[in-house]
Amino acid sequence: MTIVVTGGAGFIGSNFVLDWLALHDETVVNVDKLTYAGNLGSLSAVMGDPRHIFVKADIGDQPQMAALFAAHRPRAILNLAAESHVDRSIAGPAAFIETNVVGTFRLLEAARAYWGDLPLDEKAAFRFLHVSTDEVYGSLEPAEPAFAETNRYMPNSPYSASKAGSDHLVRAYHHTYGVPVLTTNCSNNYGPNHFPEKLIPLCIHNALSGKPLPIYGDGQQIRDWLYVKDHCAAIRRVLEAGRLGETYNVGGWNERANLDVVRTLCAILDEVRPRSDGRSYGEQITFVKDRPGHDRRYAIDATKIQQELGWMPAETFETGIAKTVRWFLDNPAWVEEVTSGAYRTWIDRHYDRSLVHGA
Ligand code: NAD
Ligand code: TYD
Repeated sequence: MTIVVTGGAGFIGSNFVLDWLALHDETVVNVDKLTYAGNLGSLSAVMGDPRHIFVKADIGDQPQMAALFAAHRPRAILNLAAESHVDRSIAGPAAFIETNVVGTFRLLEAARAYWGDLPLDEKAAFRFLHVSTDEVYGSLEPAEPAFAETNRYMPNSPYSASKAGSDHLVRAYHHTYGVPVLTTNCSNNYGPNHFPEKLIPLCIHNALSGKPLPIYGDGQQIRDWLYVKDHCAAIRRVLEAGRLGETYNVGGWNERANLDVVRTLCAILDEVRPRSDGRSYGEQITFVKDRPGHDRRYAIDATKIQQELGWMPAETFETGIAKTVRWFLDNPAWVEEVTSGAYRTWIDRHYDRSLVHGA
């Protein structure tokens, strides 16, 4: 049996592929366009593994997706490919509409045609799982209850609006055509292979490089943080047992203000990799201009996935963040590749090109 994972060279996708192959013998066809966020260096442990087939392709290339499904006959398609960074969506929203909305639409079209032609038993077992974000629900006031699956969609950034658009398309393909879809809406992830443009890896990297740790506005914006491997476990569980057409909110029950997150990082680093001058990394914290339209608070009510599917995060914020800092300290070569841009030539330098289809 085979599953297709899109965006499998990104942060969450690479963790998903690595964990999947550690737990299953089922083949993964990993479809990734390798944008700036796609890094085959994150997958070095499975490049060359016959259970991992990497295909460099755009989810918006419908004929190529159709050919790929016909060739590999997946029992499930997991859509993680996306443009994912809010600040980039503010600077240039077009790519977000192109991949997150139009790309998801084209992928759904290819999936619908493939699913429609399957024999009845395979058709019944097929799943299209769409990975989305809590940001589609908008921003919460301090005293408001956490996002439930029934909350109204009120996206505020081009990123969240494009993800909301993709979620609606996925829903419509179930309602209208009967495509067996599942959607997950997860809070902020952190962990290994996280591209250092996002708050946590950026601050770890900047701290160690002696650079400022930029805090937008007053740093009191609140996010719910989930260790990436817990998110991957939730995706596997929803794929296995989620009810068709349903959405599942996934979160860590870990609301933290940004400033507290960065102070926690500094405290860990002060202990495990003290600055040579004996001062605290906290001195590198710098308040900078706020993000336009910055959402104040996200929080996830993960009761549904817990009660229906028995999923709970294994990590607390404290254990997850300690593992994350350790991973970044133990993988300076990965960080160097990413921050220098050298990872973009990774295919040429590290791999036999025959391992990368479509490159
Ligand atoms: P990422 O930016 O690290 O990775 C995205 C991957 O998708 C990259 O490898 C990129 O090359 C690939 N990609 C982009 N456009 C593509 C296209 N048109 N065709 C094929 N591949 C393409 O993102 P991530 O943080 O790993 O997020 C994965 C998914 O999870 C996204 O859908 C995101 O919206 C969602 N999500 C992320 C978070 C988070 O905290 N990072 C939280 C909740 C949900
Ligand atoms: P980010 O990691 O970009 O995720 P998202 O915007 O999807 O939640 O940002 C997390 C929070 O950290 C968000 O409130 C913005 C803030 N932030 C900073 O304060 N400084 C930074 O340099 C970055 C990248 C983010």
